[in-house]
This record gives sequence, C-alpha cells and structure tokens, in this order.
Amino acid sequence: MRYNGSTLLRTTGLTRRYGGLVAVSNLNLDIRKGEILGLIGPNGAGKSTTFNLISGFVKPTAGTLEVFGRDCTGWKPTKISRMGLVRTFQHSSYMRSMKVRDNVLLGTMHSMASAGPTERAHRVAETAEILGLTPYLDEQAGTLPHGIQRLVSIAIAFAARPTLLCLDEPLTGLNQTEVGATLDVFRQIRDEFDCTILLVEHNMKAVMSVCDRIVVLHHGQQLATGTPAEIRKDENVIAAYLGKRHDK
Ligand SMILES: Nc1ncnc2c1ncn2[C@@H]1O[C@H](COP(=O)(O)OP(=O)(O)OP(=O)(O)O)[C@@H](O)[C@H]1O
Ligand SMILES: [Mg+2]
Repeated sequence: MRYNGSTLLRTTGLTRRYGGLVAVSNLNLDIRKGEILGLIGPNGAGKSTTFNLISGFVKPTAGTLEVFGRDCTGWKPTKISRMGLVRTFQHSSYMRSMKVRDNVLLGTMHSMASAGPTERAHRVAETAEILGLTPYLDEQAGTLPHGIQRLVSIAIAFAARPTLLCLDEPLTGLNQTEVGATLDVFRQIRDEFDCTILLVEHNMKAVMSVCDRIVVLHHGQQLATGTPAEIRKDENVIAAYLGKRHDK
C-alpha cells in the first residue's frame, strides 16, 4: 500500500455545465500521494472535462479545487502547473517541426526557470532515457512513428518533474509491446521520482493492471470508486459499460 496519508488533490462538488449539459456533476475526487489513479468511463463521461477543470483550462460552474493543500479554484493553468500539476492532452501536443530534444526542453521551461543550459540538457537526457527516446532526440518529432510521438508528449510533461502527472489517454494507438513498456515507465516514474499519476485511459486491461484505485465517471457523475478488483465486479459499472440501465 503506497498511500502515506496525504491527499494531493481534492475536488469538492466540482461541476461544469455547458448550456443545458452537465459535463461534470458534483465531483468529489481525492488523489492520494504515491498512487496511480485511473479515471475511466464511457465516451462523453466527463473525463477530459475533469482534466481541464483540475488543470485550470476550464473554470468550474460550481465547486472547489484544492491542489497540494491550497485552494486553486479559478486559477490559471500556468499557475497550477508551476505548483507541480502537469497534464497531457488527449490529442498529442508537441511541435511537429521541432526535434524531440527541443520539444522535451520546452517541458523544462516553467519548472527550471532559474536553471542553466547544462542542467536543462541533463534533464532532457534523463527524461529521454527513462522514456526510451534517446535514439530519437535529434529526429523531427512529426516524422516519428505514432507510438514514439505519444511518448514525446509524455516526456514533455514529465520533463517538468511534476508532483502530479495527469495523462489523458496516453496509450491510444500503441501496440501491445508499447503499452507494456509505457506502463513500466509509469511505475518507474512513480517509484523513483515520487510522481503521483492520474490516468485517463480506455484500455481496460492496462488500467486494471497499473492502477491502485479507479474512479468511474458516467454522464458526468461519479459512478464508483475502488480498487481494480472492486471496480471489475461493480454491477453499476458493468451496466454503464454495457449501456444498460441498472436500477439499484
Ligand atoms: N467545450 C465544450 N462545449 C460544449 N460541450 C462540451 C465541451 N467540452 C465537453 N463537452 C461535452 O461534455 C461531455 C463530456 O465530454 P468529455 O470530453 O469530458 O468526455 P470524455 O469522458 O473525455 O470522453 P472521451 O472518452 O470521448 O474522450 C460531452 O457530452 C461533451 O460533448
Ligand atoms: Mg476525453
């Protein structure tokens, strides 16, 4: 059990409406230090909106957000990321025309504002090594195979050495070998760099194998929370995924 008693992030009644649609409804989410927390749910369940809310890209209609013990409700994304909460986007974001090295360097900018070039270069090299990107450092990012491009997105975020790393569907389009290797990277950065991870992912097998706890969203609401074993047998979760109504 990795939980050491501290809560890195807490949302209370977090809600986001778009007109008549409630994308995230009254969400009470806790992320505990040292865990890999999965956030799952069918398409449109509110996972990316939750990411946008906790990283400041979208302002809540109601509710509060506390990150590392501070009330950050309404804060701008840069202010939240400087605290150590860094996120990736569902659709890979990096500069296609730039080398992998320069993309990863961009990821160090906010967190290493006072560092010199040698220190930054060391961070880039270490990050590339962990993600298996060393052979690609001088390649133009946009020309690389899809699986490598996904890793570049993660590398940019991890280069900041976040306290809390939020990954939105990082495994999309990866083959089975790449998925296995990437899950090992998640475990390694959690264990060696004290990096807590929030993982949105549709790959159920991967989520079940890597996550300590899982939160299930459905229609913007928290349907269930528990260990992978608990979630796997939760009747409401099974019903939501099968698209059937479950009156309980
Ligand atoms: N900017 C927006 N304007 C209007 N509606 C939005 C906006 N962003 C999200 N929504 C709606 O909010 C709901 C939740 O969307 P969200 O992208 O958070 O779901 P998701 O769980 O990430 O889905 P997916 O698995 O497909 O990525 C959806 O019905 C979506 O259409
Ligand atoms: Mg999404």
